[in-house]
Amino acid sequence: MELITVPTQPIEGQKPGTSGLRKKTRVFMGPHYLENYVQSIFDGIGGVVGKSLVIGGDGRYFNDRAIQVILRMAAGNGAAKAIVGRDGILSTPAASHLIRSRGTDGGLILSASHNPGGPEADFGLKYNTPNGGPAPESVTDRIYARTQEIDSYRILESQDVDLSADGMTPLGGLQVEVVDPVASYAELMAELFDFEAIRALFATGFTMRFDAMHAVTGPYALEILEKRLGAASGTVMNGTPLPDFGGGHPDPNPVWAKDLMELMMGPDAPDFGAASDGDGDRNMIVGRGLYVSPSDSLALIAAQAHLAPGYSKGLAGVARSMPTSGAVDRVAAARGLSCHATPTGWKFFGTLLDAGHATLCGEESAGTGSDHVREKDGLWAVLMWLNILAVKEISVAELMEAHWHEFGRNYYSRHDYEDVPAERAAALMDGLRQRLTTLPGQVFEGLTVKQAEQFDYEDPVDGSLAKNQGLVITFDGGSRAVFRLSGTGTEGATLRVYLERLETNSDSLLLDAQIALAPVIGAADEIAEISRWTGRSGPDVIT
Ligand code: G1P
Ligand code: ZN
Repeated sequence: MELITVPTQPIEGQKPGTSGLRKKTRVFMGPHYLENYVQSIFDGIGGVVGKSLVIGGDGRYFNDRAIQVILRMAAGNGAAKAIVGRDGILSTPAASHLIRSRGTDGGLILSASHNPGGPEADFGLKYNTPNGGPAPESVTDRIYARTQEIDSYRILESQDVDLSADGMTPLGGLQVEVVDPVASYAELMAELFDFEAIRALFATGFTMRFDAMHAVTGPYALEILEKRLGAASGTVMNGTPLPDFGGGHPDPNPVWAKDLMELMMGPDAPDFGAASDGDGDRNMIVGRGLYVSPSDSLALIAAQAHLAPGYSKGLAGVARSMPTSGAVDRVAAARGLSCHATPTGWKFFGTLLDAGHATLCGEESAGTGSDHVREKDGLWAVLMWLNILAVKEISVAELMEAHWHEFGRNYYSRHDYEDVPAERAAALMDGLRQRLTTLPGQVFEGLTVKQAEQFDYEDPVDGSLAKNQGLVITFDGGSRAVFRLSGTGTEGATLRVYLERLETNSDSLLLDAQIALAPVIGAADEIAEISRWTGRSGPDVIT
């Protein structure tokens, strides 16, 4: 084994977004690309001499090769310890939990989340800090700065480490500890939720389907749902992780989890349906005949979390990303809880969770979680729902209807325009930004603009500023349209339009969301000139 220093030079476009660096797999596989980025992470966090790191990923194509490179580089840079999930597998929430429970100096998570996997698809890498959460901008800025000036990286020349069996292996001065990716996460879930009540629910014949989408949650769901909680065998669908996720988008929404949705809307629907994404941090919740939007799921959990043992003392506060619907705000107001609206991206919840300002957080993009880790957590949300259903003994649809009657319903939808030429998307946003001050008082599709502003966020804990996090148009009566560009895409620009309308009339709580939102959708198109700039007559994806 020999420690070598490889001369290199900066590679363009290594700027991490809201979820680390995401690129085409081939780009990551290119000469020095991964190595440059890993060295920049190490340098950006002040070196890794004597440090310990958790390392694991969602099992997508190149996961196994990339982990071997990272281990050799950790050894080459003097790290003391690497805790690695067996076969290189760790779901994002399980990695966050390991970083926290083992008290490491952070971790490296290999994933492009819900993006497809494979040699022609996407790959990603992010650094999480010792609190278990995604690195804040101050850290990713330092990492990016290093990518701009890097001139060499350090790596140990050696054979691959065997990651197929638990235990310790030395790699130069680095101790590699291979651990069961599921065990300690499953223990944490058993502490937070009433497993006995959920087991009893399944014992009464309650039926469920969990779609692991051929991604990382397969082994977690099999162990927890089928083995520990006694759900019928076959409850977990697509439970074997595959490097290309079976060719699909491992994104748990009605579009990509189509088979599950069809089942849930059909005559043979089980009582409960759920799915999780590539790296296990997102979730979808469906009842028999009813899809629960992530914003509604967050609100429902806020109202009912006290039914789970880990939350029986109540919540310190709640937080949502700004584009997420105001449904949770209504629960918070009724219960006297503080409620925060943050920019998109889980990292903004970290300071609030660390400071004890919030217990529960959520995003409209199928992310829900709590202070048990510092990432959103797909299976956690599913278990929370199961715990609530086990105590309430009513159906998902009955539960949601009762919720809307009590708090009102925030009809909600997100329209995505994908792969828009970057200059056109930027022109749309810039044009709208310049017109913001002229909008209040104007009427579009019968809706009068009350307020139009750019969302800038000052973190209430550390005072850091995040500017220009979306454009928000509020209408009289509480409807809203929010515009922002995606920070996670790997091709062109994705325009996201978030649409919302509050309804408190108890006769109008069960409308189709697109119909209920029609005026807001029309107004948003007119205000931002969406068809003109995108050249499209409608969105590519509606969720
Ligand atoms: C998307 C979601 C956002 C989420 C992020 C990472 O980011 O909208 O809520 O935190 O993925 O999963 P976007 O592509 O919108 O920047
Ligand atoms: Zn994810």
